[in-house]
Amino acid sequence: MPAPEPPFAPPATWTNRTLPALRRALLAWFDAHRRPMPWRNSRDAYRIWVSEVMLQQTTVAAVIPFFERFLVAFPTVRHLADADEQQVLHLWQGLGYYRRARHLHAAAKRLVADHGDALPDDPAVWAELPGVGRYILGAVMSQAFERKLPIVEANSLRVLARWFASPLDPRAGAGQKWVWAAAAAVLPDARIGDFNQALMELGATVCTPVAPRCDECPVAKWCEARRLGLQATIPPRPKAKIITNVAEVGVVLHDERAVCLFQRRPDAKRWAGMWEVPHGEVAPGETLESAATRVVRELTGFTVALGEEVATVRHGVTRYAITLTGFTARRRSGSFAAGHYTQCREVPAGELADYPMSTSQRQLLAEWRRPGRARRLF
Ligand code: ADE
Repeated sequence: MPAPEPPFAPPATWTNRTLPALRRALLAWFDAHRRPMPWRNSRDAYRIWVSEVMLQQTTVAAVIPFFERFLVAFPTVRHLADADEQQVLHLWQGLGYYRRARHLHAAAKRLVADHGDALPDDPAVWAELPGVGRYILGAVMSQAFERKLPIVEANSLRVLARWFASPLDPRAGAGQKWVWAAAAAVLPDARIGDFNQALMELGATVCTPVAPRCDECPVAKWCEARRLGLQATIPPRPKAKIITNVAEVGVVLHDERAVCLFQRRPDAKRWAGMWEVPHGEVAPGETLESAATRVVRELTGFTVALGEEVATVRHGVTRYAITLTGFTARRRSGSFAAGHYTQCREVPAGELADYPMSTSQRQLLAEWRRPGRARRLF
């Protein structure tokens, strides 16, 4: 259980009529201005859950096509529970943060095993599921079952910090405790799911990080930050991430028929269960070519004859800006040594699309396959 929140105090300017009026105004605004989203026209707990998992770390616009494809493939929690993990990862391909998909799948299996087809209206059950933290719990329970549970995410924390002109950073420490207490304190007794969504919607479309549109805000007259003219500094801007540049090499190991793809271990830190060509960091002072042969040997057990450079793919992972340089190679000797990877499979080029892979890996392989790319003969 989370630690008890510090007591929550409303601004001195608020009367006991302020909060009810603010709730009514926000809900009326939401009814008039809510953006259409494919999960918003039902109370189906499964649809809401899938959408909220996808929306963690990803924008609404990016999520919509993934959500629609996912629901066609797995229309119910039982379909998802019965699916193969590879199929689930494949449908998640391109959304990133693939652990979310593996957790969702594992949680669906557990729910169906314990509760059958109907998702339970029980926060205690959901709180124990993989991938269900406080945000997902509140989002699903409030929208699907009208449970009075708060949510806090990047948009609503800004709205709450401004309403109350909180001096604390709501992303960490005491400020984070405060914002969860505030999110709980403002909840109405009815339309809780809509109220939580309205908070997020207001933050996404009106109460924006820079230049909030206070003249369009339905609750501006009760906003302490606005009254004090502090919208620009509340909440404090998140600290800029310090980005580290990383040079990586990746190796497309192939012969005339097939490419060797390798599967990440189920407990890998990233991309667990997904497929890739071996890749790793270039050590200080090492040439790209010697890094490429070393990385393949260390990760797979194969000794290779390196071919030509294929392409350079740039991508970001958390706080790393990665420049991945791809090479082709042929196997010379050695046999596959499981460890870093669980398996190695020789995949005909025409079947590569069947394997779940990260975006950078797909780009590298697409470049390798591009017609007309000069290929040096071995
Ligand atoms: N972000 C995450 N979930 C959301 C929702 N249900 N509505 C608007 N924005 C969201």
